[in-house]
Amino acid sequence: MAIIAVAGRKGGVGKSTIAGNLAAEFAAMKRSVRVLDADPQHSLVAWAAQGDGMLARAVEQVEGGDGALRARVRQAEKDADVVLIDTPPGAPEIAYEAALVADLMLLPCGASPLDLFALKEALSLALKARAERRSKKPRIRFVPSKVLMSTNLGRGLASSLKDMGKKVLPPIGQRIVVAEAVASGLTVAEYAPNSAAHEEFRELAKAVDKVLRK
Ligand SMILES: Nc1ncnc2c1ncn2[C@@H]1O[C@H](COP(=O)(O)OP(=O)(O)OP(=O)(O)O)[C@@H](O)[C@H]1O
Ligand SMILES: [Mg+2]
Repeated sequence: MAIIAVAGRKGGVGKSTIAGNLAAEFAAMKRSVRVLDADPQHSLVAWAAQGDGMLARAVEQVEGGDGALRARVRQAEKDADVVLIDTPPGAPEIAYEAALVADLMLLPCGASPLDLFALKEALSLALKARAERRSKKPRIRFVPSKVLMSTNLGRGLASSLKDMGKKVLPPIGQRIVVAEAVASGLTVAEYAPNSAAHEEFRELAKAVDKVLRK
């Protein structure tokens, strides 16, 4: 049983996309998965409602605040091997609530310098939760997200992230198929199983799984 939160102060860096697609990869590894959508925008609920894929069965809307998220996580972990929590941008209290229960915090980041500034705040929040828990949890990993490998900024992102002192997981490239899958209400694994994008999510899930087993 593992609890994974996806967080970041900046909007639009790919948090919900990563949460939804990781759910599919863990399901492919024969794990039972719940996805808790703790973002008041409810992007994952909206994504799931576009179609009839695995997210339609895995995603639940959760309201953050007053310990409600923690209570829902405790309930979800009774019947799931993996609980993924998607958190909103710019609502540190919900991300913090998630950091207090998560085993692993994934912090996606794009290649813009502005993304990197915002990432520092997300990192501090995760470290503050660790201090409060007096624990090594949540483990913290950066995920290069929406990366354009054809650009210098894109190619340099992993090393810029490494310089911030936390381990970096395999990148997710910016690819049209990722957005198309959302429009169909499907994960990339369902929409384009033979695509390069699917291979990237599979590699990311493997790396996440390895961190959780440590
Ligand atoms: N790897 C990718 N390739 C192409 N498009 C992507 C990729 N990742 C995300 N997107 C698109 O970028 C937009 C933002 O992605 P997403 O909603 O996952 O980000 P977010 O960090 O959850 O945003 P928010 O902060 O608003 O919750 C969406 O339109 C999504 O389809
Ligand atoms: Mg989101």
